[in-house]
Amino acid sequence: MQYMKIGKSGIQASVITLGAMGIGGGTWWRNSDDQESIRTIHQALELGVNTIDTAPVYGFGHSEEVVGKAVKGNRSKYIISTKCGLWWDDEEGSFRFEKDGHKVTRNLTAHAIRTEIERSLKRLGTDYIDIYYTHNPVCPPVMTPAQETVGTLMELKKEGKIRAIGSSNMTPDEIRQYTSLGEIDIIQGHYSMLDRNAAKEIIPLCREKGLPFHAYMPLERGLLTGKITKDYVVPAGDARDDSPLWKPGVFSRAVDFVDSLQDICQAYNCSCAHLAVAYLRAKGEDINVIAGARRVYQIEDIVHAVDVKLTESDVAEIENRIQKYNL
Ligand SMILES: NC(=O)c1ccc[n+]([C@@H]2O[C@H](COP(=O)([O-])OP(=O)(O)OC[C@H]3O[C@@H](n4cnc5c(N)ncnc54)[C@H](OP(=O)(O)O)[C@@H]3O)[C@@H](O)[C@H]2O)c1
Repeated sequence: MQYMKIGKSGIQASVITLGAMGIGGGTWWRNSDDQESIRTIHQALELGVNTIDTAPVYGFGHSEEVVGKAVKGNRSKYIISTKCGLWWDDEEGSFRFEKDGHKVTRNLTAHAIRTEIERSLKRLGTDYIDIYYTHNPVCPPVMTPAQETVGTLMELKKEGKIRAIGSSNMTPDEIRQYTSLGEIDIIQGHYSMLDRNAAKEIIPLCREKGLPFHAYMPLERGLLTGKITKDYVVPAGDARDDSPLWKPGVFSRAVDFVDSLQDICQAYNCSCAHLAVAYLRAKGEDINVIAGARRVYQIEDIVHAVDVKLTESDVAEIENRIQKYNL
C-alpha cells in the first residue's frame, strides 16, 4: 500500500480508503452483513488500508456503529473519516430527502455540528475523529453562514476532537470561501471514469491550494467492476437508483463500455475494478480513492489496483472509448 499526507494534519492515509456507505445497509444497500463488514474492516488493515470513510447518514448511524465495533482495541491504527451536515432530528435546516422513515435536512449550524460530533464519537467508540467532513454545503432556504460552520470546525480542531477538516460536494466558489475562512485539509467529491466533472475545475483548484482530493464512487457502485450484466434490475430505493448511469439507455451503453475494456485489462493482467481505480490514481498522486467495500473479497481484490500503473496512452485510449459509447 502507498500512503499520502492529508493537508497539514500530519495524517498519513492509505491511498485507497475503505468506503463504508454499504456497511450502513438499509434500503440503500440491501444484504449487508455486520459480521462480514467487521471482517472486511479488519482485513483492510492487514492489507495496509488504514483509512475508512463513513457518515452518520449511512444506515442512519449503523455504518458508524459497525465501524466503531471493528476498530475497537485498534483505534489508533485506523484513520477514520466521518461527516456532519445531514440532519434528521427535527425540521431544522433545508429539507433534502426522505429515507427509511427519516426526513433529512442539510444543516451546518454550530448547534447541529456540535450535536452530531458527540453522537459520531459515541457510535465510533472514540474520543477523536481523524478527518471531519461537511457532507454537503448548505442550500436554500436555510443558508447558515460559512463563518459559523468553518469557525465551529476550527474550534473542534483546537479542542482535539478532530485532526483534519474536510469538505465534500462543494462548488469551486464554496471551496474558495471555506479555505479563506479556516484550515481545510481535504476535499471530497464524486470522481470516476464515467463522472469526470471534478477534473475540470475542482481538482485544479485543490492543487492550487495544496489539498488532496478524496474521490468517491470510483466503481460507480459496482457498474465499473464488470460484474453487472444488462439484465440487472436496480431495486427500488437502492443507492444505484439515484444515478443516471443506471437508467435505461445509458445503462446499456455503460455495460458495453465496461465490456470493451477487456483488452486493456488483459494487457495489465488486472480486472475492470482495478482499472477503474488505477485510472483515477493515474490522474495524480494527490487523488485518494474511496472504494466502497462490505465484503472481505472486495477489499482483498481492490488493493491490487495500486500496483496497476496505466500509461498516458492507455488513459487516453480509455477516454476515447468513453466518448465512443457517448458516456
Ligand atoms: N461524500 C459523499 O456525498 C459520498 C457519496 C457517495 C459515496 N461516498 C463515499 O464513497 C464510498 C464509495 O462509494 P460507493 O460505496 O457508493 O460506491 P463504489 O465504491 O463505486 O462501489 C462500491 C460497491 O461496488 C461493489 N464492489 C466493490 N469492490 C468490488 C470488487 N472488488 N468486485 C466486485 N464488486 C465490488 C460493491 O457492491 P455490492 O456489495 O453491492 O456487490 C460495493 O459496495 C462510499 O462507501 C462512501 O464512503 C461519499
